[in-house]
Amino acid sequence: MKFFIDTANVDEIREAAATGIICGVTTNPTLVAKEGRDFRETILEITSIVDGPISAEVISLDADGMVKEAEEIAAWHPNIVIKIPMTWEGLKATSRLSKKNIKTNVTLVFNPNQALAAARAGATYVSPFIGRFTDITQDGIELVANISEIFTMYDIPTQIIAASIRTPMDVFEAARAGADIATVPFKVLQQMIKHPLTDTGIEKFLDDWKKVPKK
Ligand code: E4P
Repeated sequence: MKFFIDTANVDEIREAAATGIICGVTTNPTLVAKEGRDFRETILEITSIVDGPISAEVISLDADGMVKEAEEIAAWHPNIVIKIPMTWEGLKATSRLSKKNIKTNVTLVFNPNQALAAARAGATYVSPFIGRFTDITQDGIELVANISEIFTMYDIPTQIIAASIRTPMDVFEAARAGADIATVPFKVLQQMIKHPLTDTGIEKFLDDWKKVPKK
């Protein structure tokens, strides 16, 4: 499983990119709004930091509007992936964009039929939302596992991005469930590599090092 970072904050993206563990970025209208900056300027700065797929979402609800927005946004940079909401109109837009070789990430996926339909419409990625599903007492990890099983069974090339990740446990379970990618908030990326035994181990090594005779 690969890692994307789920943020529109360029400082977080820069810091995470420096570790070499992320190979893409996902944004959504909420994340972009949080930064209080122009959408195009934000996305273009992100493309200058990470050389990989950068998801930017359309806000139209009809297929014509989505395609128009998508064409405009996709023209900003070759790495841009257009995020399309999982609706009937979204499927029409995904199908049209895939014929124009514009990559799509079908978002707000909450059941395996939605994921399969998005894949058949030509989606490059589908994004099942783990955290928001768990919030309503549904099993977000089982959702990812079911989609993964179906995509493997029918040899479907659409990649699964485990989204709405809230905890390091979500990341681990998404990997076990067969997600191709987890898009992870900065805070969770930092949490998931922490271990108290690593910290106490470093402390002990540094303490012991003080006992090494110095010439
Ligand atoms: C990413 O593609 C999603 O938009 C994002 O993971 C949603 O996360 P949230 O449910 O924490 O808002």
